[in-house]
Amino acid sequence: MEREVLLDVKDLQVNFGQHKKKFEAVKKVNFKIYKGETFGLVGESGSGKTTIGRAIMRIVPSSGGEIIYKGEKINGKISGELDKKVIKEIQMIFQDPQASLNERAKVDYIISEGLMNINKGISAAERKKKVDQALLDVGLLPEFATRFPHEFSGGQRQRIGIARALIMNPEFIIADEPISALDVSVRAQVLNLLADMQKKRQITYLFIAHDLSVMRFITDRIAVIRKGEIVEMAETEELITHPVHPYTRALLSAIPMPDPKHEKEKKLLVYDPDMHDYSVNPPSWQEVRPEHYVLANEKEFKEYKKLYY
Ligand SMILES: Nc1ncnc2c1ncn2[C@@H]1O[C@H](COP(=O)(O)OP(=O)(O)OP(=O)(O)O)[C@@H](O)[C@H]1O
Ligand SMILES: [Mg+2]
Repeated sequence: MEREVLLDVKDLQVNFGQHKKKFEAVKKVNFKIYKGETFGLVGESGSGKTTIGRAIMRIVPSSGGEIIYKGEKINGKISGELDKKVIKEIQMIFQDPQASLNERAKVDYIISEGLMNINKGISAAERKKKVDQALLDVGLLPEFATRFPHEFSGGQRQRIGIARALIMNPEFIIADEPISALDVSVRAQVLNLLADMQKKRQITYLFIAHDLSVMRFITDRIAVIRKGEIVEMAETEELITHPVHPYTRALLSAIPMPDPKHEKEKKLLVYDPDMHDYSVNPPSWQEVRPEHYVLANEKEFKEYKKLYY
């Protein structure tokens, strides 16, 4: 069965600064996200994950390439009608619930601000009904609507952030490290909430994280990004059981394994970017195993292919 492509990111580039100070935060990145799936983007701090999310949200302008949502280009100049549709259908949940909520606004305003922007004529009663429902949907009480963000715990604040996205009835959510700032004890709750929402509403996710441990349980496919470049991409189990790029292998060696005996014998791999000799043999995107892609030059590609055979 052909899967429906919801988002197609083609040669996306994002630069900050100009001329000599130009910094390429995202370098010709390519990936597709299928409808209904959870696509993971993983990489160390500063690799460009949030920037990609913000480019899709059109919070930062792209410097090159195309972002195609449901067959329509949404970066660059777009029609007012498409703009409105994208504002409604694509939502983002932010990395830091401490910083992402307006401290001076009440929960009720925070949750319904986006809704009021796209539906200026909405009645107070209708708005209240929607806010109450959104609060209930994320496991909070409607009474919370009249309180301020500082009255809530980290986990509750993140739920408020999720309610703000959910009230728009989105089709696609970019979840930017939604649990990394939370206490370990509430992380699973927030993850379960996101998973439930997906089941009930067929939401598609771009899930961003900097380590692979959480990713394993929630994503269908993963792209590994390093310094603005995707270096490997495959279905989640395939990637975790058959990693080929040394950077992915290093990331994986850093996640705890369930067997403590194994854990003690395990060696942490250190990734050395200088190991690649790209001055003469530049890398390109290669299919190393079925549906499993890696950034490699010819010599590396031969070595990677031999790893599991
Ligand atoms: N508005 C900006 N102006 C200049 N540089 C920026 C801007 N936003 C991000 N950058 C730089 O772009 C690079 C990628 O940043 P980004 O926030 O996308 O990384 P990240 O992968 O999300 O990292 P983290 O895991 O720490 O959230 C970093 O070097 C960052 O300093
Ligand atoms: Mg980030």
